Amino acid sequence: MNDKIRDLEHIAPVEPIILGIESSCDDTSAAVIKNSTILSNVIAGQKVHEAYGGVVPELASRAHQQNIIPVVDMALKDADIKANEISAIAFTRGPGLMGSLLVGTSFAKGFALALNIPLIEVDHLQAHVLAHFIREKDDSERHFPSFPFLCLLVSGGNSQIIIVRDYSDMKIIGQTIDDAAGEAFDKCAKIMGLPYPGGPIVDKYAQKGNPYAFKFSKPCIAGLDYSFSGLKTSFLYYINKQQKANSNFIQENMDDLCASLQFTINDILASKLLKAIKQTGIKKVAVSGGVSANSGLRERLTAESVKHGFRTFFPKLSYSTDNAAMVAIAGYFKYMKGDFVGQDIVPYARVVAH
Ligand code: KG4
Repeated sequence: MNDKIRDLEHIAPVEPIILGIESSCDDTSAAVIKNSTILSNVIAGQKVHEAYGGVVPELASRAHQQNIIPVVDMALKDADIKANEISAIAFTRGPGLMGSLLVGTSFAKGFALALNIPLIEVDHLQAHVLAHFIREKDDSERHFPSFPFLCLLVSGGNSQIIIVRDYSDMKIIGQTIDDAAGEAFDKCAKIMGLPYPGGPIVDKYAQKGNPYAFKFSKPCIAGLDYSFSGLKTSFLYYINKQQKANSNFIQENMDDLCASLQFTINDILASKLLKAIKQTGIKKVAVSGGVSANSGLRERLTAESVKHGFRTFFPKLSYSTDNAAMVAIAGYFKYMKGDFVGQDIVPYARVVAH
């Protein structure tokens, strides 16, 4: 950090304006937050991957390169903020796809250097957790989770149970040993011939189907860890077998297949979460990540919370999947602590322990 930026700490604004940048996978996003209240959140998805049934890393980084400037421009315009009013730039440092992360990281570094403002690195998974603290302009009535709470973080790349003691003090107590929950949704959707990402489409069909129509195998994993690869295999074998007898099996049973698959995934997620609540005695659960948008998971955990006496928190749907608002709020908490990084910062692809 140069001396000029260090001087800024002494005249730090009371209501900092943070620009957040997210580019860890296939969404290019920029958001502006003023004093923890959201002013804008622009997300550009990448349709190019649909034809491949999954994210193609090289295509993702090229699309980020094309999207990043218009997305940031739109986020500033939506927020009615000029570049010279930004107090600091927060960016996703990792984990994620290296080529994608490099686009956001390099952009953030260049922009912070040009504006001579602090740069803040944000861990993508911590940002998903902190999405629960994004304030809207008119939500004075809203309740935020108080510390400590458990976070069930379920996305396309991760499935974790985390004890959250503070904005920066988080401990993973359970995680997937193979596929993530979102991956299970997406891979099983692909087996049924559905486009990527399959999770939201399975959710849609599931709402019309019978969750008990088909039974798929559930893992027996010790402790609080998850596993989803066995479910994917059992789903594949079952479908293949049925297709041999009836080539229209998937089309004729799409609603029930989706409902049963969704029920099984959510059952696996809920049972370990209940175990974690029992073990820790913590009775507040925040759900984060793309899969937290799942209607069946929301219903199931709400029902479990009534039955077992715990409280659940779900983020707004637009803050469930990848977005820069969560990066900006995570950046805001670091800004308040003066936790900045220099221009020598580099992204990381894999999960790191904090
Ligand atoms: O958090 P996210 O946007 O990206 C990362 O993986 O970081 O999560 C994307 C994942 C995908 O696997 C997608 O299929 C899943 O979230 N997803 C859903 C739903 N919406 C998104 N899965 C089930 N039901 C949904 N409604």
